Amino acid sequence: MTMTEAMRERHTVRKYTGKALSQEIIEKLNARIDENNSRFGLEVKLITDSADGLNLFAKLAAKGVKNYFVLAADGGEEAAEKLGYSSSDLMLFAQTLGLNTWYIGGTFNHGVAKYADGKKVIGIVAVGFGETNGIPHKSKSAEQVSHYDGEAPDWFKNGVESALLAPTAVNCQGFRLIGNGNSVKLEKNSVMFTPADRGIVKHHFELGAGKENFHW
Ligand SMILES: Cc1cc2nc3c(=O)[nH]c(=O)nc-3n(C[C@H](O)[C@H](O)[C@H](O)COP(=O)(O)O)c2cc1C
Repeated sequence: MTMTEAMRERHTVRKYTGKALSQEIIEKLNARIDENNSRFGLEVKLITDSADGLNLFAKLAAKGVKNYFVLAADGGEEAAEKLGYSSSDLMLFAQTLGLNTWYIGGTFNHGVAKYADGKKVIGIVAVGFGETNGIPHKSKSAEQVSHYDGEAPDWFKNGVESALLAPTAVNCQGFRLIGNGNSVKLEKNSVMFTPADRGIVKHHFELGAGKENFHW
C-alpha cells in the first residue's frame, strides 16, 4: 500500500484487538519517528504495551489501546503544526504496515507528559491492530473548501480531494484552500481548526497534489 492509497484507507479506529506490535513493526515505526524528529526538531515517542494513554472519557469509547505516539515538542503554534504534519506521515505510514490509528488531541491522559522530557504534549495517536478498519468520515465538498483563480489544474483538484480525506478535530474540516497559478494558500475557516489540523491538511494536500507542482 502506498502513502497515497493509505490516505483513502485510513479512518479513525477506537477499538483494537490488543494484539502486540512485533519487534519488526516497532523498529519501522521508530525509524520513521526518528526521521520526522530530526527533520522538524520534534520529540515524538512511541510508547508500547501501556494502557495509560487515554483519559476516562476516551476509555468509554475505546478498547485495547496499548500503543501510542506521544506528540511532543518545544514551542507554540509552529511546533504544533509540525507535530500535525509529522503525525499525518506517521498515521499513513502505520496504515501501510497494516495498522490502524486514532488521533486524540483532547481526551488523552495528560499524565503522558511524563514521557516527554519536559516538552509540551499536544496529543497522542493510538496505533495498533483495529477490530475494524473504521468508516469514511462525513465530508464537505471540494467547492465548500477551495477556490482556484481560473480553471483548476488536476494537481489542485487532487490536492483538495486528498485534504478532504484528512482527519481534523471533531471532523470540522475548517479550512479553505486558495489556488492561484502554482501558489496555494491554506486559510483557517473555523475556530475549531487547530495548528495540528493545519499540519495534517498540508501533508495530505501535498501527497495528493505532488510537491513539485506548487508552492505554499
Ligand atoms: C487535531 C485532532 C484532534 C482530535 N481529538 C480527538 C479527541 O480528543 N477525541 C477523539 O475521540 N477523537 C479525536 N480526533 C479524531 C477526529 O474526531 C476524527 O479524525 C474525525 O472525526 C475524522 O474522522 P476520520 O479520522 O475517521 O477521518 C481528533 C483528530 C484531530 C485531527
